Amino acid sequence: MSNLEQTLSIIKPDAVERNLQEEIKNMFKKNGFNLINEKKIHILKSEAEQFYKVHETKPFYNDLCEYLSSGPIIVIILEKENAVAENRKIMGATDPKNADEGTIRNKYGISIDKNSVHGSDSVENAKKEINFFFSN
Ligand code: CMP
Repeated sequence: MSNLEQTLSIIKPDAVERNLQEEIKNMFKKNGFNLINEKKIHILKSEAEQFYKVHETKPFYNDLCEYLSSGPIIVIILEKENAVAENRKIMGATDPKNADEGTIRNKYGISIDKNSVHGSDSVENAKKEINFFFSN
């Protein structure tokens, strides 16, 4: 049965700074994702705080929000069968040290903070995250 989904990807400041966006977008395309919409933006810390609200009690929350708002990012709506899980597969583990060979974070991630990409962790969050950046 078909299960076409959309998920949100963010190419984070460390990757945009190193001009890796085309390579990362090509990985999505090669893996069968359609890029439905994308934009380059530079968000405020207050917007990062809203976006990452699920993490507000975590010790890394402040640094995380500082970081996401520290430079331009690219937000992308990806579409594919089982897009949420498929994107998580090609991103690799959160900490690049633990990311499987060939995954985006394994190839490009610098640290657990500067891990190059974000991807929605569930279909429900994907909807929220897409709305966050793409509703006007
Ligand atoms: P991301 O998928 O964007 O979701 C939250 C981010 O918090 C995560 O990627 C990491 O970059 C960052 N982070 C920093 N420290 C931790 C940690 N100890 N556990 C999980 N995520 C962390």
